[in-house]
Amino acid sequence: MTPVSRAAAVSSGRPEPTTPWWRDAVFYQVYPRSFADSDGDGIGDLAGVRSRLGYLELLGVDAIWLNPVMRSPMADHGYDVSDPRDIDPMFGDISDLDDLVADAHARGLRVVMDLVPNHVSTEHAWFREALRSGPGSRARRRFHFRDGRGPDGSEPPNNWPSLFGGPAWTRITEPDGTPGQWYLHVFAPQQADLNWDDAEVVTDLEKTLRFWLDKGVDGFRIDVAHGMAKPSDLPDHDGWEANELLGHSPDDPRFNNPEVHDIHRRIRQVLDDYPEAVAIGEIWVDDHERFAEYLRPDELHLAFDFHLTLAGWDADAVRLSVEKGLAAVAAVQASPTWTLSNHDVDREVTRYGGGAVGSARARAMILVALALPGAVFVYNGAELGLPNVDLPDEVLQDPVWERSGRTERGRDGCRVPLPWEGGEPPFGFTSAPSAWLPQPPEWRALTVEKQLEDTGSTLSLYRRAIELRHERAEFAGDEIGWYGSPPGCLAFRRPGGLTCVLNAGKVPVELPDGAVLLASASLTGRTLPPDAAAWLV
Ligand code: BGC
Ligand code: MG
Repeated sequence: MTPVSRAAAVSSGRPEPTTPWWRDAVFYQVYPRSFADSDGDGIGDLAGVRSRLGYLELLGVDAIWLNPVMRSPMADHGYDVSDPRDIDPMFGDISDLDDLVADAHARGLRVVMDLVPNHVSTEHAWFREALRSGPGSRARRRFHFRDGRGPDGSEPPNNWPSLFGGPAWTRITEPDGTPGQWYLHVFAPQQADLNWDDAEVVTDLEKTLRFWLDKGVDGFRIDVAHGMAKPSDLPDHDGWEANELLGHSPDDPRFNNPEVHDIHRRIRQVLDDYPEAVAIGEIWVDDHERFAEYLRPDELHLAFDFHLTLAGWDADAVRLSVEKGLAAVAAVQASPTWTLSNHDVDREVTRYGGGAVGSARARAMILVALALPGAVFVYNGAELGLPNVDLPDEVLQDPVWERSGRTERGRDGCRVPLPWEGGEPPFGFTSAPSAWLPQPPEWRALTVEKQLEDTGSTLSLYRRAIELRHERAEFAGDEIGWYGSPPGCLAFRRPGGLTCVLNAGKVPVELPDGAVLLASASLTGRTLPPDAAAWLV
């Protein structure tokens, strides 16, 4: 579809198309702190996003996913929400959000917000009330408060660790000044887990959903959507070797409890009142059958599949991750999703080896992702081929750094603000002397300004690839067929006639029959070099 027809589709209110807009959409993830700063405080904000919508239109994406912009003390950069129905002053105010949504819609772009239902900030009014009210009070039942173990209650109630390091429990001081109960926080101590058995927790989320949907927001990315429900006895667990969101064990009691599906059904009931809205869950569940449960017709519309994110630079691993991604949704006829990176993982350029080789591979992999059926998520800066940044200790802000006793550097390296223009930091990101995380001077070669002028740039490749994916009939069809391919390579074909070939091997390979539609590297004749991909029709 052209930008014009997409704009019409958003605003005309014409009858619902048979295929929902999100099924094969290209989503662009805006990490608001790092996208564009409008007020000169060195931190990106909503007016900054709005000022750069023309860029996103040029890029050709269908929708924006905004990481959390709700009111927050920012202990985990917005994933610690203190008021879910307000915008944090760091990012602007409600009218900035309204303006952003209106302008985005006028340009044919949808806007999806991040929703954080698993936990709230310890600055949330509910948590403050819980601290003031004693053990057993109504206010404490909205959270998981427990007495400690040991004779004086000085041991945590169970042996769960926090994903950010240390125990998942913090002890409070009771209103009378004595050492008191403990509360559960699967993430940082500033992120108290909510008790989803409490009816008010559920009704309040419904209120939040309607609050944003009534403003015209097009849906939600749901944080830790396999979290929320906890086993009521909060049992100890053996075997905490795997204590990462990106790879926890299937029997980890903190996640994927069956009751979580009731919560998703409640969310879906609300969303069904807004027929075009989408709910996209962050679901770190490896087992296909368990994953697919989240995508039953009365639960989520889409769920992030992270197999491709976790696959290294290896054709067999990539093929396996694609097969898993397709298999995981097949049973419920849901649409697959593809993600090369986000704000929680190292950038793909770095994961694939860094430098020129890493960039070449990242260019190849976006052609793989965009050739697949389903929705594709592009993390801001990926379209510029940005690598991770090695930041000095003193600027690190991710709570993981301190919580791990400064042994894990955390996720700041993939969150460095975007370089827009000019020859030195902050590259037009802000009018302040520097951005909230320092940008490396070498990014002068990667600015949007530079790359827009260069037809061989990664930005130009993304633009062309997204345009072709929208326009060409060869991208039709939900299945893919695998071709035989030389070792180190993979090739698949869409029913519409598109073939995608990836060369992750060490030697150049001959391309199969067909006209080359696009390639991630320059081709010599019909030979695809290593670290490259091509589309053929
Ligand atoms: C988000 C992280 C966040 C965590 C806690 C996640 O999965 O993507 O950035 O730290 O949830 O809310
Ligand atoms: Mg700002």
